[in-house]
Amino acid sequence: MIEDMVRLVERLSKGKDISFQRSYQDPIAPVWTDPPLLRQVLLNLLNNAVQAIKSQGTVTATTQEHPKGWVDISIADTGCGIPASHLPHLFDPFFTTKAPSQGTGLGLAVCQKIVTALGGLILVESTVGHGSRFTVRLPRLPHTLGQKLA
Ligand SMILES: Nc1ncnc2c1ncn2[C@@H]1O[C@H](COP(=O)(O)OP(=O)(O)OP(=O)(O)O)[C@@H](O)[C@H]1O
Ligand SMILES: [Mg+2]
Repeated sequence: MIEDMVRLVERLSKGKDISFQRSYQDPIAPVWTDPPLLRQVLLNLLNNAVQAIKSQGTVTATTQEHPKGWVDISIADTGCGIPASHLPHLFDPFFTTKAPSQGTGLGLAVCQKIVTALGGLILVESTVGHGSRFTVRLPRLPHTLGQKLA
């Protein structure tokens, strides 16, 4: 599902010189999720990553089991980065630094609502001029339930 969203955004970004990298842990522990909602989260994060890159750069999608019962899905970019003063406002509805035609500022607010409803959280790391990484951390299925569904 993650790869489907990466390919979709890759196709839509043909006008820019962006390299899309993948680093998927395989096999990986199953998570309990809602596919259409998680697709929307991934699409928002991937669109933000592409929009942060002016003309040339890299977007990397990573999946990784995190110790203590979580699974991490990260979308990283080598774009403009986020000033520290913006970090506390990123998830506020309508917070945007984009032109009105480019963004409403609802993307991350919706992402956070969805991920919280799924029992997870979103982490942000960013350096101005170097890029950003958004990590969606979701709870793993309890071990026995995961085995039954696998
Ligand atoms: N990967 C990123 N790199 C740099 N800045 C980012 C990144 N992701 C989000 N931001 C900053 O956070 C702001 C809010 O992001 P959010 O996705 O909520 O809204 P938006 O992208 O401006 O509009 P939209 O509603 O179309 O998503 C952006 O305007 C931008 O300033
Ligand atoms: Mg956005």
